[in-house]
Amino acid sequence: MSEPLLPPIGMLAELTHRCPLQCPYCSNPLELLKANRELDTQTWLDLFSQAADLGVLQVHLSGGEPTLRRDLEQLIAGLSARGVYTNLITAGVGIAEGRIEAFAEAGLDHLQLSFQGARPATTDRIGNHKGGHEKKLETARRARAAGLPLTINAPIHRHNIEEVPEFIDLALSLGAERLEIANVQYAGWALTNRDQLMPERAAVDRQAEIVAAARERLTGIMNIDFVTPDYFAIYPKPCMGGWARDAFMVAPDGTVLPCHAAQTIPSLSFERFGPRSLAEIWTDSPAFNAFRGTDWMLEPCRSCERREIDWGGCRCQAMAIAGDAAATDPACAKSPIHARMAMLIDEAQRAAAVPSNDEQFVYRRIGVVTEPA
Ligand code: SF4
Ligand code: FES
Repeated sequence: MSEPLLPPIGMLAELTHRCPLQCPYCSNPLELLKANRELDTQTWLDLFSQAADLGVLQVHLSGGEPTLRRDLEQLIAGLSARGVYTNLITAGVGIAEGRIEAFAEAGLDHLQLSFQGARPATTDRIGNHKGGHEKKLETARRARAAGLPLTINAPIHRHNIEEVPEFIDLALSLGAERLEIANVQYAGWALTNRDQLMPERAAVDRQAEIVAAARERLTGIMNIDFVTPDYFAIYPKPCMGGWARDAFMVAPDGTVLPCHAAQTIPSLSFERFGPRSLAEIWTDSPAFNAFRGTDWMLEPCRSCERREIDWGGCRCQAMAIAGDAAATDPACAKSPIHARMAMLIDEAQRAAAVPSNDEQFVYRRIGVVTEPA
């Protein structure tokens, strides 16, 4: 290993795969776990306690929709008692009266709320949930009234990329301190729906200009994070900050994973919390060690000056497009198959140009398993 193994700092806890929305860009796996596969309250609390012992400083409580867990207040309180920073990632739909206030009281530090569109019709259509936008506005107001700092998350794709200026206005009007303009990453359900979600190049370029101008205009007022779309990039992003480098995630059934899509790499097998401790999995799991650091890299990554900047990009994207998880991420211009990304954009655009294909999303649903195209 090229650098000493450090303790993890961040953890994403996918408390459940259940969700009232059905977004076609969801990064959850195609095979969603039902409620009876979820860890119980005490096991999550034990896991959080071990995470704190291991060095984890912040936990993102996610899903699916984490507020569907009736024990969420207890889980937040458990983390808070250990001094761990908690961020609740919610779709903000159907949260019962008084609960946001209860989360704040239990010690929640921050709330991140997703909007599928800046316009009500877009939010409702993409999430396949009538009245969703209105409920989200109400959640934002309640979060701010409870004194919680707010981030608005806007997953961007072909069907809402023109709403970016409105997303900025929406986040400002809700008193958000941060807006994430997050271009969809094609894993999980988003990979299945790639042709329907892929934006046009001109729209991507326009969006980058709008965000750059807004960032300058809103300095000191609201931070705007911009996740650039991989398919249009020259260099890949350091996915998860590098494989098993300083963060990990836990699926609803306690499977400990280096990233969202890790289970799409067939050569790896992943361990569950319980039979093994978190520390053992973080340190010894062959799957965690498979792509740690730089020793696993092949050329051109092995001798590249950016290898400790992007850590070779995304292993799951390499698997999905190059068919080899150890290959250079095809998003990188140095990848021998980088041109494949442009071809996939063209293919998506040709598919979307057929009127009957556009908006034919495969909506995310538990119990429906569809192979990616
Ligand atoms: Fe990153 Fe590898 Fe591309 Fe270099 S060759 S920029 S390390 S993905
Ligand atoms: Fe698995 Fe990027 S999603 S490494």
